[in-house]
Amino acid sequence: MRFRTLDGVDVAGKRVLLRADLNVPVRDGRITDLTRLERLTPTIRELAAAGARVIVCSHFDRPKGKRVPAMSLAPVARALGEVLGRRVRFAEDCIGVAAQQAVDLLAAGDVLVLENTRFHPGEETNDDAFAGELATLADLYVNDAFSAAHRAHASTEAVAHRLPAYAGRLMQAELEALDRALGAPARPVAAIVGGAKVSTKLDLLANLVSRVDELVIGGAMANTFLAAQGLAVGRSLQEPDLHETARRILADAETAGCAVLLPIDAMVAAALAPGVATRTVTVAEVDADAMILDVGPGTVQALTARLVGWKTLVWNGPLGAFETPPFDAGTIALARAVAAATASGQLVSVAGGGDTVAALRQAGVADKFSYVSTAGGAFLEWMEGKTLPGVAALAASGD
Ligand code: 3PG
Repeated sequence: MRFRTLDGVDVAGKRVLLRADLNVPVRDGRITDLTRLERLTPTIRELAAAGARVIVCSHFDRPKGKRVPAMSLAPVARALGEVLGRRVRFAEDCIGVAAQQAVDLLAAGDVLVLENTRFHPGEETNDDAFAGELATLADLYVNDAFSAAHRAHASTEAVAHRLPAYAGRLMQAELEALDRALGAPARPVAAIVGGAKVSTKLDLLANLVSRVDELVIGGAMANTFLAAQGLAVGRSLQEPDLHETARRILADAETAGCAVLLPIDAMVAAALAPGVATRTVTVAEVDADAMILDVGPGTVQALTARLVGWKTLVWNGPLGAFETPPFDAGTIALARAVAAATASGQLVSVAGGGDTVAALRQAGVADKFSYVSTAGGAFLEWMEGKTLPGVAALAASGD
């Protein structure tokens, strides 16, 4: 798909509405990973250096159309300033008088962050009037939020039809890299899907089985698959009402010739807590009071042996509760094996998802994959071959 980039665009003196994805991971009020902000800096620096007045807008979390102080972008704007090493102003609203006044104060090269777009119900309903209010703030629109491009929201979709619209450098890099890796992947192609968003990813798995040759399932969703096969998973997180779906996915995979690789052993504990006593057991030996919190070393060894045969790998989601060591062990060990296979030239490795990026950083290999996307849901929808409204709007608004 063709889309317009910033090449040759004169932004000097112009007000540029930059749709970013400032939806950074936060834990106990602290930003736990700055990757999304760091990836944004090339576009902001380029625009500011060219004399644009840069007006950054984004959603943060899911306030559902209401002003929720805990979901303000103010702390993220401060963090962006630190990452950029320059002053970043902040407006208390993304439309109306507060936004307009803040924009009017901008000089060429200044950077402003507007308050959370999702404080307004019109954002998620892709409301044209709300998009119109955003558009009045600017002369040009640049979308650098590939990771929010699966949402047809006012700041990702409707506004692109109201202003000359371009892909930012991050959006451009994401689209180019994913196309190289997934447009026509070298086979065999494998996918690793993990994480805790069980029900949403079960839908994804149904699609993946027809696209990849091997599908590795880890994280909490693997528990649902194990339980669906009649194994006892103790007190592990799982979704009993999805057992039937899980069995259907396994049957569909078999029909499609896709090998599904589930954990063969697990690290279990009585609770998800740092320093808790752990045990490694086979998946057939999980006690009634135990929780599966990571894959075991046997699983990592089996997958490491398997990946020698892969040419392309797409990875989304950690294999265990990686935020709480030692339940990061499985993800870290496999990530390092993937990094080594990538370095040897055997494997094209593409990973995506906020948690996945954080896990790869924890493993020290975030820069050793072929490409690491900061997108989560958008990355998965792209893998499914779906049209992303935020990307389509950039093409639709073309020449
Ligand atoms: C993400 O973090 O994946 C994007 O920012 C989209 O967030 P959302 O799932 O709340 O729309």
